[in-house]
Amino acid sequence: MRTKIVAGNWKMNKTWSETLQFFNDLKRNSHELPKNVEVIVAPPSLYLSQLTNESQPVILAAQNAHQENKGAFTGEISCSMLKSLNIDYCIIGHSERRMYFNESNELVEKKVKAALANEVSPILCCGETLEEREANTHFDIIESQLSFIKNLSVKEVRNIVIAYEPVWAIGTGKTASSEQAQEIHQFIRNLLSKWHGEELANQIRILYGGSCKPDNALELFNCPDIDGGLIGGASLVPEDFIAIIKSAATAQ
Ligand code: PGA
Repeated sequence: MRTKIVAGNWKMNKTWSETLQFFNDLKRNSHELPKNVEVIVAPPSLYLSQLTNESQPVILAAQNAHQENKGAFTGEISCSMLKSLNIDYCIIGHSERRMYFNESNELVEKKVKAALANEVSPILCCGETLEEREANTHFDIIESQLSFIKNLSVKEVRNIVIAYEPVWAIGTGKTASSEQAQEIHQFIRNLLSKWHGEELANQIRILYGGSCKPDNALELFNCPDIDGGLIGGASLVPEDFIAIIKSAATAQ
C-alpha cells in the first residue's frame, strides 16, 4: 500500500505575509487534514528556513537545487544546504525548468543524483509537450526522461517520487483525462518494473500534475497507478488545497 502524496508547487508566488497567512489558514483547519496523506508544500526557497517551525503538519520541499554541493554558482542553492535545514524533498526537472532554464535530461540526472547523495528525495518531473503527444512520441519522451533510473541502486530508487506532468496540462486548465493519465502512470510503473523488478516498482509513488483541481482530483487519484498529485495553481488557495488532500484520503 503506497501512502498518497499531495504536493503543492507554489512556483514564484506569494509574498512572505501571504505565505504566513496560508500556513495560518492551514493550521486553523488542521483538524480537517487526513492522517493518511503525505502533504508537501514547495514555497519559494527564500522562505524555507523561516518555515521549518511554522509548517507542521506540512512537509517542506524546495522547487529546485543545483547539482553541485557548493562553489562559485551565484544565485544557486544546493541539496546539501537543503539537507542542513532538514528539507526532505526537492522538485527536480519541472517542465518550466526544462523550458525556461534549458535543463536537459543530463542535467536533471545530475540534480537527482545530488539530491539522493544528500538524502533529499527528488520529486522527479517528466511529461510531454502537446507537439510530442500529437506526434505520438509521448511514450518515448517519457522513457528518455526517466531512463537514467535504470542505473540507480535499489536504495536510491526507493527514495524517488515521480511526477507525470503533461506540459499541455500545466496551468492551462486542460487536465489529462484519468484514462490518459493512468495509461502513462502504468507505463512508468512498467518501466520501473523492467529496470528494478515488480516489488520495487510497486513501492514508488507516481504523482499526476497539470490542472489538478478539487473537482477532478478524486477521479484521477482513484486510478490504480496514480498516487496523488503535484498541484500548482490550486495549491495557492488553502480551501482548494485541503479539498484536494481530502480527495487523496478518500481515493482507493
Ligand atoms: P498547475 O501546475 O496545477 O497550475 O497546472 C502544476 C505544476 O506545474 O506542477
